[in-house]
Amino acid sequence: MRITVYLTDNRPEPWIKALREALPDAEVDVWAPGAPQADHAVVWAPPQQMLDEQAPGLKTIFNIGAGVDAILKLKLPPTTQLVRIDDGGMAVQMAEFVCHALVRHFRELDYYQEAAKDGEWTYRRPRQRQDFPVGIMGMGVLGQRVAKAVQHFEFPVNGWSRSPREVEGVRGFAGEAQLNDFLAASKVLVCLLPLTPDTRGILRHDTLSKLQFGGLLINVARGAHLVEDDLIALLDSGQLSGATLDVFQTEPLPADHPFWRHPRITVTPHASARTLRDETVAQIAGKIRAMDRGEPVAGVVDTARGY
Ligand code: NAP
Ligand code: GLV
Repeated sequence: MRITVYLTDNRPEPWIKALREALPDAEVDVWAPGAPQADHAVVWAPPQQMLDEQAPGLKTIFNIGAGVDAILKLKLPPTTQLVRIDDGGMAVQMAEFVCHALVRHFRELDYYQEAAKDGEWTYRRPRQRQDFPVGIMGMGVLGQRVAKAVQHFEFPVNGWSRSPREVEGVRGFAGEAQLNDFLAASKVLVCLLPLTPDTRGILRHDTLSKLQFGGLLINVARGAHLVEDDLIALLDSGQLSGATLDVFQTEPLPADHPFWRHPRITVTPHASARTLRDETVAQIAGKIRAMDRGEPVAGVVDTARGY
């Protein structure tokens, strides 16, 4: 078995070493033009040339992230399966990131931090968590894990997905028809949708303004979900009271972008849930072994659906 590796943004050597250790029978090498035919590819943002050259015999492309919007812009070999990382240690990271943003906002920790700078011993009036229902857009692998974590803090949780989903303790909404009801029932909005033609620009003036007044946006999915000028207008009018943004239309976020300096926006550099090498390699090796035994694997992307 041969595995070819191409990783933009990551040094390939540690990945090759880990893949060789996990699959001792496999030949594992970095892809370069003219590389021999492989059975599987492990990639992040590969060039079209790699997919074209490898197309005839390539069984699987393993994308080392959860989101497949970037690779779906390429022309994929028609007979090759695309498999994304499902969880692989990302879900717990996403849960801690979202809970941190939520609790920081709900408990007004920024207020206390500012007061402490002046040595002020002062209190804010306690708030009711029932007044801060959390709406999670995208109830997949990450959204469900975030819902579970948020429930531990006893916030009401709403979930929105494409098809109806029954998740214990979560008030479920599905499809376009229930989007407005979902937004109206939520004050904190967490975006964990894949980026597809249906979800691009979904965080815009007419959707965000349907949230309960003074809402908080947490976007941890993709920058292209958000219409950036609409967010600034809603924050400046007070309709929204804050935003924690991990993803942006342009990454890295340009130095002169207004988000960096906006007093109610927190920026993080696409760091809410990082790909973890050991967990990811273990998952890919497990899936290759399962496929060799003829068993189905999780995380196969429906390319027509876009996730
Ligand atoms: P997933 O398991 O595929 O879940 C996607 C969810 O979105 C599903 O519940 C799906 O509905 C729902 N959905 C898709 N299209 C929809 C639509 N048009 N309307 C309503 N709901 C829709 O994905 P995941 O593993 O949770 O990851 C979600 C996204 O997080 C990724 O695509 C990626 O972009 C992002 N991400 C970001 C980071 C980061 O560091 N910031 C890290 C990892 C992932 P159904 O349940 O009906 O299918
Ligand atoms: C990161 O953004 C991912 O999609 O895994």
